[in-house]
Amino acid sequence: MAADLRTRLGHVELPNPILTASGCAAAGRELAQFFDISRIGAIVTKSVMLAPRSGRPTPRMAETPSGMLNSIGLQGPGIDAFLQRDLPWLLSRGARAVVSIAGGTVAEYAELATRLSDAAGVTAIEVNISCPNVEHRGQVFACDPAAAAEVLEAVRSRARYDIPVFAKLSPDVTDIVAVAKACVSAGADGLSLINTLLGMVIDTDTMRPVLAGETGGLSGPAIRPVAVRCIWQVRAALPGVPIIGMGGVRTGRDAFEMILAGASMVSVGTVIFHDPSACVRILRELDEELSQRGIERLADVVGLAHEPRTAPRRGLAGTAAARRMP
Ligand code: SIN
Repeated sequence: MAADLRTRLGHVELPNPILTASGCAAAGRELAQFFDISRIGAIVTKSVMLAPRSGRPTPRMAETPSGMLNSIGLQGPGIDAFLQRDLPWLLSRGARAVVSIAGGTVAEYAELATRLSDAAGVTAIEVNISCPNVEHRGQVFACDPAAAAEVLEAVRSRARYDIPVFAKLSPDVTDIVAVAKACVSAGADGLSLINTLLGMVIDTDTMRPVLAGETGGLSGPAIRPVAVRCIWQVRAALPGVPIIGMGGVRTGRDAFEMILAGASMVSVGTVIFHDPSACVRILRELDEELSQRGIERLADVVGLAHEPRTAPRRGLAGTAAARRMP
């Protein structure tokens, strides 16, 4: 049996919930040699800024136990090259393009939203307000509900009405629900949870930080429980708001865990570096996870872990999944 994996990115329907995570596959070109990129729900691009940017000095990556630290510093071609080269290429491949944007000021985010709204083929905008690799923590808008809301309000008011706007949040806060609520009140159509956690590695031979930028963002399996916790908390507080879950997903079962916590889409990131076909594998595995449990529709199990253990599961009655439930 193949499950019905359709899901909604705001008001946009996607054929399935597996997306790339921003920053792990540029604008999708690298992956096209491994699989048909139109098969997955969407390609989420590397965050694009107004101007081209070379990013932080090298070394910019370090392996860690069950994870990876990056200190890229938002390297990218800038919005002009992105619109001329990358977006048309994604469209020519039949891929759905979720464009991640990043800025140093509210005005920059607003300008990016305007430029993307004038272009054809933007499926959604993911507003990256949580990159840890910026000059000052004050530029991590997602660390403060009011600053986050200011960015989202500016983007929502400048983005074309039919383009859903998602806010990408940081787990490095005391109360992620407060930030999520502020973004949604400011007009965000959905939330992307989570960006990397700020971390550091010191080389005990050189006795200095491994990364030239000293600190970096931790991703990979080590952060998955943090991501699941954030998705869970935000889903409990804002049950109607669509969530893209991400953080250390390696298998269909990992994706299923995030869906049970409340994500209706799942982005796949760090695993792509050693398994570039991971998105299609995880899509197949997720289908198998659902089918093995007799679950016919993905939509029936989004956030299911929040239901009391004894409650009847809507859409699962009489299924193997229902029989297995305690
Ligand atoms: C980077 O380019 O430094 C990573 C971007 C991010 O984590 O948001």
